Amino acid sequence: MAADIYLFIKDILSIKAPKKSPWALRMIVLTFSMLFGLYICSVCLNQVSIHTNIGLANVEVVQRPCEPPNIEPWEKPYVHYPHPKTFSRAECRCNPVRYFAILSTQRSGSGWFETLLNSHLNISSNGEIFSVKVRRSNISTIVETLDNIYNLDWLTSASKNECTAAVGLKWMLNQGLMKHHEEIVEYFNTKGVSAIFLFRRNLLRRMISILANSYDQNARPLNGTHKSHVHSPLEAEILARYKPTINTTLIIPNLRQVEEMTAQAIQHFNSTRHIVLYYEDIIKNRTKLLDVQDFLRVPQMDLTSRQVKIHKGSLSQQVENWDDITKALNGTPYESFLHSDYRM
Ligand SMILES: *[C@@H]1O[C@H](CO)[C@@H](O)[C@H](O)[C@H]1NC(C)=O
Ligand SMILES: *[C@@H]1O[C@H](CO)[C@@H](O)[C@H](O)[C@H]1NC(C)=O
Ligand SMILES: *[C@@H]1O[C@H](CO)[C@@H](O)[C@H](O)[C@H]1NC(C)=O
Ligand SMILES: *[C@@H]1O[C@H](CO)[C@@H](O)[C@H](O)[C@H]1NC(C)=O
Ligand SMILES: *[C@@H]1O[C@H](CO)[C@@H](O)[C@H](O)[C@H]1NC(C)=O
Ligand SMILES: *[C@@H]1O[C@H](CO)[C@@H](O)[C@H](O)[C@H]1NC(C)=O
Repeated sequence: MAADIYLFIKDILSIKAPKKSPWALRMIVLTFSMLFGLYICSVCLNQVSIHTNIGLANVEVVQRPCEPPNIEPWEKPYVHYPHPKTFSRAECRCNPVRYFAILSTQRSGSGWFETLLNSHLNISSNGEIFSVKVRRSNISTIVETLDNIYNLDWLTSASKNECTAAVGLKWMLNQGLMKHHEEIVEYFNTKGVSAIFLFRRNLLRRMISILANSYDQNARPLNGTHKSHVHSPLEAEILARYKPTINTTLIIPNLRQVEEMTAQAIQHFNSTRHIVLYYEDIIKNRTKLLDVQDFLRVPQMDLTSRQVKIHKGSLSQQVENWDDITKALNGTPYESFLHSDYRM
């Protein structure tokens, strides 16, 4: 019996032993070959990526140098060649791109000004991006949003995509711009962003426009829709029918506050590359639009807008309490606002 068992065990051992060692060996060989394979692969991949990098660099350098030949040294920080994640710049890959931001206040003509810029073949101004509060929650979200815009990855109806030569946005002073001005100035200076200030000289007209626009938000005389900007004389005429009453106690402090805020904005951003424009000057003198195109270094074109001005003509016709307003402003630094009229 014992011998039987012994034989039986021996049998198992003798049967299994020869099988066991090749199995273990196979495992060792397999493991080795796997590791070796991985090593070879990683070496190969490295070489492939080195090869492709060299290949692409060669193609760029040899076929189309991206550096334009005659660019002044001071301009270098403002010239960019973005690589968008969402599309290829194709044949315009080597066209330089300038970054800009229109810094303005509500009802200062910036909507109209932006439609003019966007009528240019090579300018993409993406609208009031920071009117959405989450995007201006903190400096990280602001920077993330700006990075997206300037990398041409912010796709709006204004995007000219591959052949954009100037890309930017419209940014109101009260949309996180004044609050985070230090970090934003630093961003503008390190990334090479140019600022276009657009203000209105006649702050009384601006005040009337604000009051009328906020009235329209509730009353909606245009078939129930609220419109801040209009495209037909009829719509403009309907919106201009409303005449606000201006609180004469608040008028001077309010005008002063806006004046101080704009002066402060220009001062905060005085280390950035910038241009200061006034709505009235552009209306009176369209060559100001050529100055803007030169500032953005885009080819000069005729710029057009379909927008129709809502409030035109004499100011006295646009408010309910003109006599009180005249009394309140006469003899103050703002008296000229009563008289400076212009024609479109
Ligand atoms: C910034 O705001 C975003 C969105 O509100 C939030 O998710 C994020 O945690 C904030 N970051 C910091 C550093 O506060
Ligand atoms: C402007 O756009 C046109 C057409 O898309 C393109 O051919 C041209 O190179 C662009 N100009 C600049 C300066 O990028
Ligand atoms: C309001 O709608 C009617 C019918 O669609 C149209 O005829 C009229 O011109 C609209 N008015 C305005 C001010 O848009
Ligand atoms: C004007 O504003 C002041 C201060 O807010 C207020 O006390 C006053 O009642 C207002 N006047 C009118 C006519 O609404
Ligand atoms: C910017 O403003 C500050 C403070 O008023 C002033 O000291 C500085 O000289 C100004 N810089 C430029 C470039 O104008
Ligand atoms: C119009 O603007 C241009 C450029 O800013 C300026 O040189 C010119 O003197 C202005 N013309 C008038 C009539 O103001």
